[in-house]
Amino acid sequence: MAEVEALGDAAVLIDQDRFGWVGRRQDAPKADRVVEVTGVIFPGFIDCHTHGVFGAARLDDHERRALGVDYKAIGAAGGGIMQSVHDVRARPEVELATLTRSRLTALLKRGATTIEVKSGYGLELEAELKQLRVIRQLAGELPATLIPTFLGAHEVPPEYRSKRADYVRLVCEDMIPVVARESLARCCDVFCEPGVFTVAESRQILSAAARHGLTVKLHADELEGSGGAELAAELGALSADHLAAISDAGIRALAASSTVAVLLPATMIFLGKRSQAPARRLIEAGAAVALATDFNPGTSPTLSLPLVMALGVSQLGLRHAEAVTAVTINAAAALGLARDRGQIAAGCVADLVVAAVDDWREVAYWMGTDVVSAVWTAGSACPA
Ligand code: NIG
Ligand code: FE
Repeated sequence: MAEVEALGDAAVLIDQDRFGWVGRRQDAPKADRVVEVTGVIFPGFIDCHTHGVFGAARLDDHERRALGVDYKAIGAAGGGIMQSVHDVRARPEVELATLTRSRLTALLKRGATTIEVKSGYGLELEAELKQLRVIRQLAGELPATLIPTFLGAHEVPPEYRSKRADYVRLVCEDMIPVVARESLARCCDVFCEPGVFTVAESRQILSAAARHGLTVKLHADELEGSGGAELAAELGALSADHLAAISDAGIRALAASSTVAVLLPATMIFLGKRSQAPARRLIEAGAAVALATDFNPGTSPTLSLPLVMALGVSQLGLRHAEAVTAVTINAAAALGLARDRGQIAAGCVADLVVAAVDDWREVAYWMGTDVVSAVWTAGSACPA
């Protein structure tokens, strides 16, 4: 992860929507059009974990936490995820699309050229489909690539608390088949956490998703450990995400698998937690680590992947090169896209980010400052 190749005095040739060549400027093949850029060119950043479709901000939760109330206690008292669920259920699709469009545009401006976007604030068929339709609509409008993920198992809604097995059945038998049939999602995710979904329930849901052709990932061991990482490895998941409470056995399981460990340092900071996922131990054990924003109204309202890179260095102990790997090729792998995304290499999709800096390490240094000066996707410059 610490091996990135930095070329000085470089040129990149774009052929339609792909990179055709990269190397020293003096060796560059002739091109029809030449664009000069000042700064450092990175592969387009990949935000492999967001909950980008929601209504209002959750300021009351934020204030209650400042007063010392814990995230899980706020949820148990009716705040938390259910606040956003009531909002999304009631809000017209067109309004959700407008809100989501501006938020995803802001992520793109800060360099996220591929963005995974989850549902999970509907928790009933129609409201989940509404979120996924918003993602599909915006995938057609925005220059970023959007990867839709079905997260119907984000929480057990109150109407099913006394009959949770019925909700799991609803997700497996009613929601997943429709989502898959209408090609509204590529992946399926579950919030596997004590007090939310158990390992057994998560296994049941993700197995149903896999039978319907969805790839799987999961929120695992975020706040309390329950063996989520081990389950991710067992299922051959693309990723296990969060992992602040991962066990030693979980680290070994991920290291021995091709499941990517997606770490979300902004979340723990925003929640006021002092702990973070054991990034160094994961890397030293041989796991692949990616970073993402976790952009959502409850635990991570940030739209900046470069900020998350800076947190990766300061909070997780990543080296700058590891932080770059974590938002490019490893984040591509967390979405099953590593074959042709996450690198500036001939044949890869021509998504790139220009940062107005002298040294490439500065992208993970100017904490919370917008260093991204231009973004290109599929070979074209995005509007400023
Ligand atoms: O990744 N952990 C579950 N989901 C989100 C939080 C969602 C919310 O609070 O709205 C997360 O932290
Ligand atoms: Fe999340």
